[in-house]
Amino acid sequence: MVKICCIGAGYVGGPTMAMIALKCPDIQVVVVDISKPRIAAWNSADLPIYEPGLDEVVKACRDKNLFFSTDVEKHVAEADIVFVSVNTPTKTRGLGAGKAADLTYWESAARMIADVSKSDKIVVEKSTVPVKTAEAIEKILTHNNDKGINFQILSNPEFLAEGTAIEDLAKPDRVLIGGRETPGGRKAVEALKAVYAHWVPEDRILTTNLWSAELSKLAANAFLAQRISSINAMSALCESTGANVSEVAYAVGKDSRIGPKFLNASVGFGGSCFQKDILNLVYICECNGLPEVAHYWKQVVQINDYQKTRFVKRVVSSMFNTVSGKKIAILGFAFKKDTGDTRETPAIDVCHGLLGDKALLSIYDPQVTEDQMKRDLAMNKFDWDHPQHLQPQSPTAFKQVSVVWDAYEATKDAHAVCIITEWDEFKKLDYQRIYDNMQKPAFIFDGRNVLGVEALRKIGFVVYSIGKPLDPWVKDLQVSI
Ligand code: NAD
Ligand code: UDX
Repeated sequence: MVKICCIGAGYVGGPTMAMIALKCPDIQVVVVDISKPRIAAWNSADLPIYEPGLDEVVKACRDKNLFFSTDVEKHVAEADIVFVSVNTPTKTRGLGAGKAADLTYWESAARMIADVSKSDKIVVEKSTVPVKTAEAIEKILTHNNDKGINFQILSNPEFLAEGTAIEDLAKPDRVLIGGRETPGGRKAVEALKAVYAHWVPEDRILTTNLWSAELSKLAANAFLAQRISSINAMSALCESTGANVSEVAYAVGKDSRIGPKFLNASVGFGGSCFQKDILNLVYICECNGLPEVAHYWKQVVQINDYQKTRFVKRVVSSMFNTVSGKKIAILGFAFKKDTGDTRETPAIDVCHGLLGDKALLSIYDPQVTEDQMKRDLAMNKFDWDHPQHLQPQSPTAFKQVSVVWDAYEATKDAHAVCIITEWDEFKKLDYQRIYDNMQKPAFIFDGRNVLGVEALRKIGFVVYSIGKPLDPWVKDLQVSI
């Protein structure tokens, strides 16, 4: 029986390995992590991440051919294929801080693999890493290798999106495997291909050289984020001209060369990947003497920051240029619907902006806990994936924040409602009831374009929806944005 071990039981390691176990009953899969609470949660009824369909997959194979353990060294030593799916956050200190990927976790995993291995291994980069990381990993694995072990490194980046991870894993657009162009490298690629071939059609399994696979992951995320920044840039122009961004996106996306996906204007993209990976790409370009290319990609992140700031300015300027002491309901805190993940969520920047103007926030999200929200609001930029850097919570800011478990409670007596995550339940709320219980004038700022603007205006709300023709009220009070 082939034995797989995956280091890192996070958003990628957990679901990816659960899918492999489900589709390959002849393979034993062990997911290991240094975090005891995370592994305990994977072994419990309450999994550590919320992802539609994940519970069923895990329940179908846990303790049969899928195991979760903190005994990292034992399972790595026993495995034929070791996936490394640890976090690769943005560096917060030292050379490349604020841009480069922090490979501390990756390097320590690689050193451990080298130390405990007693048999040949295929080591698979599952984490998103800078191009050429495999070369460094090879050096770490083969350095001090007096046991004659054959290590083959493969790059097999993951393309799943949160909220649809199970669907994405079950029917991937493609699986990408990069390896060395040597007999040993080709054999390793074939071995990993055989795992995916259990359920992925062969024409969807792409094989390339190592560097193409590593770079394709960064490129794919940069292209996706670029589409969002492009439509968000258009949304600002729509507001100034009276065009409607949804109509523009529809018309543009009808061109089959462009396509309709990923053209939803929003308060900004979030998530643990887009910003981190683009900044990493920018850093790599700079290091390779390509400042113009670096500058080009940097703009994607800058437009995203602009979009979040622009949203806050709209809120404050529409409400007579001050939100001091005003209750504002924040509906949604996760970075997108159908996940409890808050990493780099635009909600953090919007809340910071409003708290800076002394607003009183009442936040509701169906999947994010109060503890998580308060941790996020207390953290410095980029610190979320570096637990050792967490700052003490700021009691002043927290006096301005309350977290509630119902959208009606959040909006009661509020001056304004901000929709930050596109949860389906926000489309079905009784907005007449919400309006009746709010201060007047009652404002709605829809950062996801999920609500019907005309129906809300009929109820009496002053409405701002990203990239839609402005309410005369908002237009009259607009400052330069
Ligand atoms: P995560 O933070 O959820 O999980 C990483 C896990 O690795 C953590 O549980 C951590 O405790 C563990 N870990 C760190 N060092 C370890 C070590 N030395 N030994 C054992 N365990 C260790 O991260 P994630 O979201 O799963 O992302 C992992 C990688 O996959 C990143 O490189 C990310 O860019 C990439 N990626 C993420 C997504 C996504 O949607 N989250 C999608 C594609 C790719
Ligand atoms: C992304 C990539 O899609 C995935 O392939 C990669 O493996 C990891 O990074 P993820 O971050 O989980 O996945 O979610 P995604 O659906 O890409 O959304 C990212 C952010 O962009 C979210 O905040 C989302 O709300 C926002 N978004 C997405 C928009 O604002 N508009 C869109 O049209 C699409």
